[in-house]
Amino acid sequence: MAVRFNEKSGQFHLYNDDISYIFKILKNGQLGNLYYGKRLSENRDYGYLVEESRRDMAACPTEEDNYFSLESARQEYPTYGNGDVRYGAYEILWENGSNITEFEYKEHRIYAGKKRLNGLPATYVENESEAETLEITLQDKRKDVNIILTYTIFKDYPVIAKNVRFINLCSETVTLLSALSGCVDFPDMDYVMVDLAGGWSRERNIRERRLDYGVQSVHSMRGCSSHQFNPFLALKHPNTDEFSGEVYGFSLVYSGNFLAQAEVDNYDVTRVLMGIHPNGFYWELKTGEEFQTPEVVMAYSGYGLNQLSQTYHKLYRTRLVRGVWRDKERPILINNWEATYFDFNEEKIMDIADVANDIGIELFVLDDGWFGRRDDSTSSLGDWYPHMAKLPKGIKGLAERINSLGMKFGIWIEPESFNRDSDLYRAHPDWVLGDIERNISQSRNQLLLDFSKKEVVDYIYGLLEKIFAEVNVSYVKWDMNRNMAEVFSNGNDRAYQGKVRHKYILGVYDLYDRLTTRFPEILFESCASGGARFDPGILYYAPQGWASDNTDAVERLKIQYGTSVVYPVSCIGSHVSAAPNHQTFRDTSLSTRANVAYFGTFGYELDITQLSEEELCEMKEQVAFMKANRKLIQQGTFYRLKSPFEGNETAWMVVSDDRKEALVGYYRVLQPSNAPLRRLKLKGIAEDMEYCVNGEEIHSGGELMQIGIITSDYSSGLLKAGREKQGDYMSRLYHLKAVDIL
Ligand code: DGJ
Repeated sequence: MAVRFNEKSGQFHLYNDDISYIFKILKNGQLGNLYYGKRLSENRDYGYLVEESRRDMAACPTEEDNYFSLESARQEYPTYGNGDVRYGAYEILWENGSNITEFEYKEHRIYAGKKRLNGLPATYVENESEAETLEITLQDKRKDVNIILTYTIFKDYPVIAKNVRFINLCSETVTLLSALSGCVDFPDMDYVMVDLAGGWSRERNIRERRLDYGVQSVHSMRGCSSHQFNPFLALKHPNTDEFSGEVYGFSLVYSGNFLAQAEVDNYDVTRVLMGIHPNGFYWELKTGEEFQTPEVVMAYSGYGLNQLSQTYHKLYRTRLVRGVWRDKERPILINNWEATYFDFNEEKIMDIADVANDIGIELFVLDDGWFGRRDDSTSSLGDWYPHMAKLPKGIKGLAERINSLGMKFGIWIEPESFNRDSDLYRAHPDWVLGDIERNISQSRNQLLLDFSKKEVVDYIYGLLEKIFAEVNVSYVKWDMNRNMAEVFSNGNDRAYQGKVRHKYILGVYDLYDRLTTRFPEILFESCASGGARFDPGILYYAPQGWASDNTDAVERLKIQYGTSVVYPVSCIGSHVSAAPNHQTFRDTSLSTRANVAYFGTFGYELDITQLSEEELCEMKEQVAFMKANRKLIQQGTFYRLKSPFEGNETAWMVVSDDRKEALVGYYRVLQPSNAPLRRLKLKGIAEDMEYCVNGEEIHSGGELMQIGIITSDYSSGLLKAGREKQGDYMSRLYHLKAVDIL
């Protein structure tokens, strides 16, 4: 891995064993993209890839040269103007109202390792040999304003992480009207754009569309990364599938408003832009001030989407997630939300905890309703002290009782919100996000606190710090249940208002940072009405996230499958809930519910005091199974085998690093009649290793990958399935163990 600069040609080449990213200083001093993809020789000059051709009506920087125009030049960090008529990656407004800039290469430096980003989450390295970083300073020709483009190439990942810093060193105040994190101009338009879209309770479904002229984008203007879209897009060639072909991923390490866009111009150049959404964003920089963008993580795969996902999984699991929980197996929990909703008291909680403890569950999580006078969603958010009518001995007393069983105690919070009916709102109505002189929309009866204000974050920190210091809390579920609607910060001036959306997210990160620093042993799980803030930014603080409020096993196939495009199994919060399911009213077997939930952090969310002895026995076995296999599941390599978006069957598997063990989840939604013979071809195991499958049959890795497991019900040969596995919503696990480890 290295970053090479060729003084003579002005070419930068970032490469490792897998990828090359090449650009150069163009004749007007800007940077132009030359190549991004599979590794190329570092000894060549690729300057011939700068496109120069005479285009009618194109604006050219100089009169002498009608062939060089920014209209068709592929650039590294473009702005609209100077001939470029596409969407730009940034826009600066000078005091005189002009937005014309002329940024040119000034200098660069290359160093080993990767620096942390100030106030923002980002991927990191543990020692300097893991990555090399290039920082290029661009300076405007007329004003002393610098843009610093930072690129880090990782040694062991086909990944480049990019971020941008703006520094105002001139005497006037400049305003950033947009400041995106990255841009890549691809030389063609032969791509399918892949993104993760959905809504509440159907998050991160995989969507694909063929690129066409014009703009295609996903975005959030909701104040959080959202249920609707995820801060991710990939471009793949039309023939690329899960295991072959090229694909380029772009993933933004950010939890607020974002834009991820592919613009195809009429010369078939595709420009990918990603960063903070410019809507509502304007950021004044006074003399000496800086603005730091979030990081965009670009990953490349020459072997289809699966390999792209595996790159993100490993990088995010080991070099984005931090802290003591990073490499630990996640505790099996029980959460009381779908068991009781708001209707509980200490005895009810203890009844659930007692049964949970008997079957081996390790952590009890007390969800919404434990504070203030919270009996429904209309009151008390913001009043973070115990609801004494429900919990006469307070949270501390309850936690002690749970701990005395030998279980850990976890708690739900929603620190960014308050209800009008709360002591906090009565004391600080101006802490609301929204103009107090105008109507402020409610959502789930609640308002957002203005987390752009330090005093608000400080106050909430004070309350939570007190609870976590007094009570033996091992886990925190941090929820956030509404979108931003009217974004306004009371008591602040006009210039401040353009900063509010981003400052709010910085406030969230600051609170997370303070709490995780003060309480490093606590495991945080992020949640936002399920999966509205399931993004790389939040993973930096909370190693796991509640993937969706939809706990139905069949729906979860799509949600977890789609989530796996970017996010590792170890961060996907997944629970077994009641049947019939509370969101879909679907009745699925306990084993299918668990077989889906295993591929995540695993837990239960139902009133287990109402279950039969038989069901509890089955659960006990499930808990034991998960304990025995969670390392493999949460830290193994994950493969998607069959897509729920394409048919009746879903399958995925995890393989251990030494390939001696694998676990396959196979799910068939509807029972077909007189169906053809079905095989499931496995991936990632060793061709010549012998595996024992489910302790029954022995097959070679080659057989299991080339022939596959026969999944049809009445088949003979590779693994017959018994009649008991018939019917709708059927699932099976296949556990492979190399014969030599048996
Ligand atoms: C939304 C979350 O997604 C649920 O799991 C639950 O915690 C509720 N909020 C509580 O209000």
